[in-house]
Amino acid sequence: MTATPLVQLARPSRPARPPVALTIDGQSCTVEEGTTILQAARSLGKEIPTLCYLETLEPVNACRLCVVEIEGARVLAPACSRAVEGGMKVLTASARVRHSRRLVLELLASSVDLSTAPGLAELIDEYGAQPARFGESAPPSNDGVRDASIPGHHVVAAPGTAATVAQPVKVDNELYVRDYAKCILCYKCVEACGPDHQNTFAIAVAGRGFDARISTEFAVPLPGSACVYCGNCIAVCPTGALMATSEHELRAAGAWKPEVQQTTDTICPYCGVGCTLSLHVQDNVIVKATSPLENDITLGNLCVKGRFGWQFVQPKDAAAGEGRD
Ligand code: SF4
Ligand code: SF4
Ligand code: FES
Repeated sequence: MTATPLVQLARPSRPARPPVALTIDGQSCTVEEGTTILQAARSLGKEIPTLCYLETLEPVNACRLCVVEIEGARVLAPACSRAVEGGMKVLTASARVRHSRRLVLELLASSVDLSTAPGLAELIDEYGAQPARFGESAPPSNDGVRDASIPGHHVVAAPGTAATVAQPVKVDNELYVRDYAKCILCYKCVEACGPDHQNTFAIAVAGRGFDARISTEFAVPLPGSACVYCGNCIAVCPTGALMATSEHELRAAGAWKPEVQQTTDTICPYCGVGCTLSLHVQDNVIVKATSPLENDITLGNLCVKGRFGWQFVQPKDAAAGEGRD
């Protein structure tokens, strides 16, 4: 009798799907049925910009930055979720596509602080986006005002000013901050906290329209919510709206120096799962812990211990900014 393994170590294989032939920007390509336009474009070495898409999350089509033109289709299609079809003719950088992406970037940059969003300043330049054409930014909301907004009672920004989500940073625990002035409402954190990874469901989208925002239940502070401080929402946030306190404080002090940081991969010592930890070290002090997205075990996720429980290996004088000898 063959013994049944107790633990399945390899991912189950699946039968190959039928091939689908299409053209992207005039280039022929054949991919498996079910492949998205984004994946097919990447197989040709074409980069399509994305914001709400991540390989480890279900596409939610929230940002519309990835739109492409499909010959014969009435509307632009999100490349991150639209599956290829036989004979499809896709344009990834037509005038219509570029116009749409430019408007997305302008609307985001006029209403959200994108200063810590990697790559967005370059995209704004590349697409010639002019967020200033909507006028001066409206004044920031006071703490809690956006959290208390009620659907159907939206307060319109004064004429000539651009509506904004600017508001104070939420600092209500020692481990991470929520700076929703930088939130583009991409839903990634909600997915990571919910069904895609963590299944904690501590956060969701509250409100409607421009007043929509990420919130805990009844907008309670994190310590009173269901949050377990895994930080898996921080790992997927594309703008730095969610940020480890260690990074937030260094940035506030003008001492965040990614150009001198080194990253060392190791194994989390806390339990037998053995998650891969990437320790980001600056001046001989750990300033952040992450896990590689492509790691088969973690998919970029950690628990509170791996993500935040590394202070015990820091030099005693780390708080004073001096590293271990
Ligand atoms: S830290 Fe974890 S549990 Fe808390 S909101 Fe983020 S994903 Fe959810
Ligand atoms: S907090 Fe970050 S991950 Fe969450 S919706 Fe906003 S931008 Fe996206
Ligand atoms: S990346 Fe496709 S809709 Fe956001």
